Amino acid sequence: KEAKLWGGRFEEGVTDAVERFTESISFDKALYKHDILGSRAHASMLAHQGLISDGDRDSIIGGLAQIEKQIEDGEFVWRADREDVHMNIEAALTDLVGEPAKKLHTARSRNDQVSTDFRLWCRDAIDVIVERIKLLQVALVTLAKKNEGVIVPGYTHLQRAQPVLLQHLLLAYVEQLERDAGRLVDCRVRMNFCPLGACALAGTGLPIDRFMTSKALGFTAPLRNSGDAITRNSIDAVSDRDFVLEFLSANSITAVHLSRLGEEWVLWASEEFGFLIPSDSVSTGSSIMPQKKNPDPMELVRGKSARVVGDLVSLLVLCKGLPHAYNRDLQEDKEPVFDSVKAIIGMLEVSAEFAQNVTFNQDRIRKALPAGHLDATTLADYLGVPFRTSHDIAGRSVGLCVSKNCQLQDLSLDELRSINSVFDEDVYEYLGVENSIKKFSSYGSTGSECVASQLDEWITRLIS
Ligand code: ARG
Repeated sequence: KEAKLWGGRFEEGVTDAVERFTESISFDKALYKHDILGSRAHASMLAHQGLISDGDRDSIIGGLAQIEKQIEDGEFVWRADREDVHMNIEAALTDLVGEPAKKLHTARSRNDQVSTDFRLWCRDAIDVIVERIKLLQVALVTLAKKNEGVIVPGYTHLQRAQPVLLQHLLLAYVEQLERDAGRLVDCRVRMNFCPLGACALAGTGLPIDRFMTSKALGFTAPLRNSGDAITRNSIDAVSDRDFVLEFLSANSITAVHLSRLGEEWVLWASEEFGFLIPSDSVSTGSSIMPQKKNPDPMELVRGKSARVVGDLVSLLVLCKGLPHAYNRDLQEDKEPVFDSVKAIIGMLEVSAEFAQNVTFNQDRIRKALPAGHLDATTLADYLGVPFRTSHDIAGRSVGLCVSKNCQLQDLSLDELRSINSVFDEDVYEYLGVENSIKKFSSYGSTGSECVASQLDEWITRLIS
């Protein structure tokens, strides 16, 4: 058995069970690119500071390039007895270039190394997710563009409420996604500080230049000069994982938004609603019932939101009892993050594809509109008496409709006046879904001008 990199003070090797239990290479090899980036920056800094020779630096950087190629070509052998990605790469580098590699870990610990690698990995992941959010927004805006003028029932408590433009509803999702992207961008700013140089927990007495590595790795605080975004406190730098907690919180909120979209579209695709027709390309069938066409992708979007929330909860619980500074428990932070990122990217991609492959059944929607007295609030607004009184009058009018099994616009002026004399002939300009929707004019409302101008803004922002 090979001696451990940390083996000096040990007389015995670890048992096989301990080795299997403590390894993380099976999953943290995903950090290899960022680990190599960090090592390259660290070696350059060490040479610049005279802590290693330029020749050593060149051997290290050359060796790291070879290792990176081996990994990418699938030729690199990952070894569980070398524990994690950091020691696998360092040991392989030693195998490859010998003595110089042994100087790479000068003024560095795996504790600051892993915090650096993970921040770099998360930063890239955030950039991908933000891009995918934008693609879903584009798909929704495009869908909205195709459905000008379509009125749908708006619901509260899942009961018919007021008429809304379908475009208005689609843009509601787009707004939510915009905030989701904003949360990720904010969290990236707080994450983007370089912990390298914090070492194990206390920093170092060696003359390192933390600003140099930070700059080389693109850690930048937006309101300061580029490259000076280094963590201020070495204990904090290796202890905390709030940057991933925040990241997974943002993912969880996005996942909840997507889950609601999934729920709504699954419901709308049902026979009972029948508002939404997914194309075959985004539907799946049943192994027993020949007639079935199911909206599985959106069900799974709803389903996968559970794991994204679960990943966040795992991390919160992982961190809550940890004394400062680094604890090995923190090795358990990787898999929930990888899982969350994989799930959220899939959810965003599939939601966008679904949005590109659905049509709204306008005939069915139109036939559904008369039910539910969607115009009752417009009627109450029309009456021009104190609102509590008009609410009561409109309520009585609805009551009359219920007993006669008709709609508000079917009531004669005499019938309306039998409820209250305030009614006039022009009431019919306010009744019926088509008339009702024309009356909305407040900023942010479902009024057609308002929705059209917001749609234009989104098109300018996202598409043109
Ligand atoms: N594999 C470890 C992790 O993911 C790296 C840091 C280990 N540090 C240590 N002192 N054992 O957290």
